[in-house]
Amino acid sequence: MAQQDPEERIELTSETRDLLEENDLRPLWEVEKTMGNVYDDLQPDIWKWADIKETIDNVEEDMPIEELPPGFQRRVAVPINTGMENAISNTIYLGVQTVSPGETAPSHRHGANALRFTIDGHEDMKTVVAGEEFPMENNDLITTPQWEWHDHVNDSDETAMWLDVLDLPLVLDSLNSSNVFENHELERQPVTKTQGYWDSQFGQARPADESKDDGIPGPFEGIRDPTPPHRFSWEETVRTLRQRADNNTPDPYDGYSMAYVNPTNGQPPLFPTMSFRAQLLQEATETHFHNATEVYFVIEGEGATHVGDETLEWSQWDIFVVPPNELHSHEPDGEEAILLGMTDRPVFEAFNFYAESAPSE
Ligand SMILES: [Fe+2]
Ligand SMILES: [Fe+2]
Repeated sequence: MAQQDPEERIELTSETRDLLEENDLRPLWEVEKTMGNVYDDLQPDIWKWADIKETIDNVEEDMPIEELPPGFQRRVAVPINTGMENAISNTIYLGVQTVSPGETAPSHRHGANALRFTIDGHEDMKTVVAGEEFPMENNDLITTPQWEWHDHVNDSDETAMWLDVLDLPLVLDSLNSSNVFENHELERQPVTKTQGYWDSQFGQARPADESKDDGIPGPFEGIRDPTPPHRFSWEETVRTLRQRADNNTPDPYDGYSMAYVNPTNGQPPLFPTMSFRAQLLQEATETHFHNATEVYFVIEGEGATHVGDETLEWSQWDIFVVPPNELHSHEPDGEEAILLGMTDRPVFEAFNFYAESAPSE
């Protein structure tokens, strides 16, 4: 016999119904089924680089950055998941940004955590964060933490492209918080630090006195282990990844997987809300599932990711999403592939909600 809807079984008198309505009260059995994010059926989905590139080239031709409205002077194409309106997932926002030769994406700061992962860069393409110029060379990852001024300056003669990754859907939609935001009075913030300053302060030698100026200013002062401005150069990251592969066995689900750590404490996650990994795949991984969402960017190579009944076939610079609680595994084609893995797992872990499992044999 089909199970009856509990709501239909419960007959309240019209007097009780009226009272509930008058007093803005509802019984739990009616409330419970309406709980949960409106975007509760996130789909596995993929954006092919050729499509992104063609589209964003057209946007670049149509729209110089200076013609965009103040506060939105970023030329970005945002992958939108089916059924959603503003992002690729419920927690992680990702966009593909371009800055043409000679252009500047003007300086601003905000409450959301953000980073750039360079797709096509140049030593003269710079993200300026907290007074320092960070060159954006291919596959470099640069943090632009909460409430730090950041602008993007292209002094090269080539268009530069990168991924913006922010925790905007979590901040704006799930927490219903505002992304406190401020534009700098100047288009380009003054460069006040020598190149390499921020990275140097979080290495094996650290400031011995208490007068260090590495705290996050403004409304985020006093937060635990703030993520500093930092450039993870690809040269160094890939060297670490290869050393790992040459000397160890891979993780069954993620391959050879190196986490980008918060430089203040040497531990993942990079941000309190998002964690990032460089993953080298040399063989097919085993299948698992977890309640955290994963978003991927293909750094190099080709292959497929099996998600539930679907197969997402990917090649270089494609972007794809693995929804929560879906069985998934990765399968590189040929020799090897490297993925940038992005996940909201730290949010789940912070509240003891993270769960992961593999199907039983
Ligand atoms: Fe920003
Ligand atoms: Fe996974």
